[in-house]
Amino acid sequence: MSRADFAAAAADFPEPFRLLILATAGSTNDEAAARARTGAAEGLVVLAERQLAGRGRRGAAWHSPPGEALAFSIVVRPAEPKSFWPRLALVAGVAVAEALESMGLRPGIKWPNDLWLGGKKVAGILVEAGADFAIVGIGLNINTADFPEALAEIATSLRIETGRECDRAEVLAAIIARFAVLRGRIGEDFPEIVTGVATRCVLTGRRVTLTTGGRAKSGTVEGIGSGGELLLRTDDGLERLIQADDVRPLDP
Ligand code: BTN
Repeated sequence: MSRADFAAAAADFPEPFRLLILATAGSTNDEAAARARTGAAEGLVVLAERQLAGRGRRGAAWHSPPGEALAFSIVVRPAEPKSFWPRLALVAGVAVAEALESMGLRPGIKWPNDLWLGGKKVAGILVEAGADFAIVGIGLNINTADFPEALAEIATSLRIETGRECDRAEVLAAIIARFAVLRGRIGEDFPEIVTGVATRCVLTGRRVTLTTGGRAKSGTVEGIGSGGELLLRTDDGLERLIQADDVRPLDP
């Protein structure tokens, strides 16, 4: 898999998506944001073969072995009010899920921003907002055969799940094709995204622990609300969580 394979796949990206390939970057989210600040238009996709300081939510490190994963960030300039921009994380989750489904896989979405296969994390999404742009960062494990011991219990890759090598450029093109269609649905059309998340949500019906607003909570997930929030039944009643960290199912 070479730069030429990615360039060939990018030739079929729908307008206005286009690809910038970097051999090395700190974080592709930072690279994309830097370009957005100097005027890059909607649809720039910044992909790095080697990410030296990839990050996840809450500043966690994101490890993507060079040549085995996809690590990329998309510049978005939503017309919708900024309060709607966090919805892009759910849009990206549905886009990745649909791309994997087009390959015959059955991914689940672990609200708010993880993709699961076979009960383990295969992809993560990090949306960050600038003054007049948002960056949608996606990390997807593709051809990793073995994870370090610390990750092996919780992480998986397309190769582990399918038993074969996957073409990273093809996977990227499939994600961009779906994101191009879904990206505009953070406003009036958002119910379609909510349905896309709800039907794939791996947490529904499960007891979970999580932290929200600095407080630990536990309860049973009843689904996804109309604004994309997690519906958690606790001893205090039904809670609608817009944001939560460390969401962990208690049952296997
Ligand atoms: C998470 O699971 O917490 C989100 C992980 C997001 C990782 C991707 S890789 C491409 C982009 N650049 C980054 O530094 N992070 C995102």
